[in-house]
Amino acid sequence: MARDILKTLKAEHDELRELFAELKETTDRGVKKREGLLEKIEASLLPHAKWEEKVFYPAFKERADRDGIQTYAEALTEHHAVENTVIPEVHAADPGTPEFAGRTKVFGEFIDHHAKEEEKTMFKMARELFTAEERAQLDEDYEEWKQSDAAAALIAGEKAKAGVKGAVNSMTQ
Ligand SMILES: [Fe+2]
Ligand SMILES: [Fe+2]
Repeated sequence: MARDILKTLKAEHDELRELFAELKETTDRGVKKREGLLEKIEASLLPHAKWEEKVFYPAFKERADRDGIQTYAEALTEHHAVENTVIPEVHAADPGTPEFAGRTKVFGEFIDHHAKEEEKTMFKMARELFTAEERAQLDEDYEEWKQSDAAAALIAGEKAKAGVKGAVNSMTQ
């Protein structure tokens, strides 16, 4: 089967949905389990989101019509809300508390909503805007990028930022 960036991104959405479903099943006593799952979620989400922002979204926007540009704007604003508000609030919560359970539930709901919009709207448009060859090339580029030092540095920066924002949040809550 030919490679396709849209299939890869969709598969990553599904993987995230599964991890969030698992997280939802944990209890306040399952601190290690919660920490491990959150780590897995971030390890999967951060490269996905950063690559969308840096490569896929701009390429999409360049070819999109007015509706597509609106879809692009919605998606980007959702990314920002997750990055600047939802993730820092999760980090500000102690994993052994109902606060953590509540905040990660919202995190999962945001991701599910966002992923659905991408799949139903943006990816549908992208299937028309990019040829099969281009989608295969994007898929290869993405895989290569994920293994690069540039990606590792970007992810480390994002994690540090979430930690700092989380610390500030817990002081002000
Ligand atoms: Fe996204
Ligand atoms: Fe996505």
